[in-house]
Amino acid sequence: MNDIQRIAIITGAARGIGEAVARRLAAANCTAVITDISDNGEATASKMREEGFQAVFRKMNVADFDNVSAVVKGIAEEFGRVDILVNNAGIRPTKPFEQMTLADWQNVLHINLDGAFNCCSAVLPLMKANHWGRIVSVSSLAAQQGSTGGHTHYAASKAGLLGLTKSLAREYARYGITVNAVSPGWIDTEGWGGALDGKRDEYADRVPVGRLGNGVDVANAVAFLASEEAAYITGINLPVNGGLYIS
Ligand SMILES: NC(=O)c1ccc[n+]([C@@H]2O[C@H](COP(=O)([O-])OP(=O)(O)OC[C@H]3O[C@@H](n4cnc5c(N)ncnc54)[C@H](O)[C@@H]3O)[C@@H](O)[C@H]2O)c1
Repeated sequence: MNDIQRIAIITGAARGIGEAVARRLAAANCTAVITDISDNGEATASKMREEGFQAVFRKMNVADFDNVSAVVKGIAEEFGRVDILVNNAGIRPTKPFEQMTLADWQNVLHINLDGAFNCCSAVLPLMKANHWGRIVSVSSLAAQQGSTGGHTHYAASKAGLLGLTKSLAREYARYGITVNAVSPGWIDTEGWGGALDGKRDEYADRVPVGRLGNGVDVANAVAFLASEEAAYITGINLPVNGGLYIS
């Protein structure tokens, strides 16, 4: 629980892991600024408000540098500051490597990795001025293990996030800003769940803890890294995978 109300921007938070993170941070005394390219974020924020949480929606495409700059500037003006950024927005199209075009590759890198660059660039000067900040990026098991079945671009983008995380952690540690990542394993969300249809039990059985993960499992890890208590933890990648990959 944060002592003071923190302003938290969560990208791709209209649904799935991002929504779970927004709820978990709101429960920890944050104002959750739900951002997403989809207008569905408005319904997510409105439902959270009905449940008593502090939540607003701002439409934002993480891949558009100018859009991100403008939206983050507006949030900072409205709320006075930005304390927490969760880089969660991401896509994972499937294409075997030999069929993958440069455009396919660049599209995934652009959203998953450039998107995080754009958001970090927008918030870091604000956090630096306040001498407090938390950035948590949602990477993936694929960054650690590599990916099979047509997700080479995705794995590369998520591994790139870990390099970004480690470098920013070192560069900004002196300013009270921590920069960390989490790497979810198999999380049963709307976006990813389709790939598991008809195979849920089989996949769950392959996870050492005996079940698929859910958004709350990831949100709990993000909330810890975004908390006051995690002030001495920076540059790490925290796997949230039920024991699927232990390094
Ligand atoms: N579900 C899993 O098993 C799993 C595993 C490892 C990592 N992850 C990562 O967790 C994150 C969330 O996954 P999820 O399962 O909740 O996915 P999801 O598809 O359910 O949600 C992703 C959200 O991101 C939004 N989004 C997409 N492109 C965007 C853009 N350009 N700008 C802003 N928002 C955009 C979508 O509209 C959507 O609301 C992703 O980065 C994903 O790579 C998921």
